[in-house]
Amino acid sequence: MKKILVTGGAGYIGSHTLVELSLHNFYPIIVDNLCNTSIKNIKGVEKITGKSIPFYNVDCTNEKALNNVFEKEKNILGTIHFAAYKSVEESVKYPHKYHSNNIGSLQVLLNVMKNHHVENIIFSSSCTVYGNPDVLPICENAPFKKAESPYGKTKQLCEELLNKTDILGISLRYFNPIGSHESGLIGDRSSDNPNNLVPIITETAIGKREIVTVFGDDYDTKDGTCLRDYIHVVDLANAHVKALQYVMKNKVKSAFNIGTGNGVSVLEAIHIFEKVNNIKVNYKIGPRRDGDVEQIYSDNTLSTNELEWEAKRTIEEAMSSAWLWEQQKQ
Ligand code: NAD
Ligand code: WQD
Repeated sequence: MKKILVTGGAGYIGSHTLVELSLHNFYPIIVDNLCNTSIKNIKGVEKITGKSIPFYNVDCTNEKALNNVFEKEKNILGTIHFAAYKSVEESVKYPHKYHSNNIGSLQVLLNVMKNHHVENIIFSSSCTVYGNPDVLPICENAPFKKAESPYGKTKQLCEELLNKTDILGISLRYFNPIGSHESGLIGDRSSDNPNNLVPIITETAIGKREIVTVFGDDYDTKDGTCLRDYIHVVDLANAHVKALQYVMKNKVKSAFNIGTGNGVSVLEAIHIFEKVNNIKVNYKIGPRRDGDVEQIYSDNTLSTNELEWEAKRTIEEAMSSAWLWEQQKQ
């Protein structure tokens, strides 16, 4: 049995990854303290896969409790570490909270893995580690520039921690994950007010918000609004399976970009959403947002060649599933 311990498995990306792991004959075990999600995501995964999944309501910064999970489960082959706080805005207000949870949970997990001779870890990193890039599309060997937020700093420090440990690990640098599973049963259940573009678009479309404010239209881009690389969360989830297979086979440490390679503007994103879902979205142009990077999108050469992974789903599919989730989530 190929047991994989998934921290933060009840969250947005984690729950989608549980589905992909099950589809590829891995046996996931969830560790999540539900601080930023709901148990409904686990029920949703069980409904999609038809399998029940062991769940431990444990805080990953609690070494004793995490150690007990490893002892009870035995023979864990690898881990995927999603557990972290993820709000850029909140991290500016409470940098210490972000530092202690995001770095603390990885440190504890690595200690426990070492105690139990577990060799492989896949870590949720982010394109935010690059800061404001000089060259686009951005490659994995680009230098880490100054982090734009305390949240971004935690991802840089976690990657450094992984570089220093003996445990084999892959950092996956996600670009902008969007959308949901086609069933509409799992998705982003973060408790905080979303600051991300797509949830703001869906909440505006459904009437929870009045208007989307586009943060600046005077950038040096095709239509003046910022460019991002929006990746369907199901494709992103699949990259974790590929990364696990890769690290187990090749026994290396590495980092990979996980994006589509396409730079999409804010206005394009809004218009694609409107077209695919046949609904109007109220929007206005506002001032730039502090700390926003003008444009960033991925060079996927390494993940395509090494992981044999590629994004298969379109942004249209992602926008359609995002709208389904907004209408269906409970
Ligand atoms: P999420 O908040 O939905 O999932 C994180 C999960 O971790 C939640 O279920 C939360 O309850 C759990 N958690 C947090 N701290 C914990 C702790 N100490 N112990 C146990 N469980 C804990 O977020 P997500 O969007 O699924 O993000 C998953 C990971 O991917 C995070 O590390 C995030 O930083 C990273 N990431 C996310 C994005 C994005 O845009 N969503 C982009 C790049 C990287
Ligand atoms: C996307 C684009 C905004 C809201 C953040 C983190 C990053 C990663 C993903 C975790 C930008 C514009 C947004 C709005 C807008 N997370 N926008 N009006 O900033 O690329 O990345 O989430 O690792 O680390 O920094 O994502 O969704 O907030 O913004 O115009 O109301 O939409 O300016 O160009 P971002 P986002």
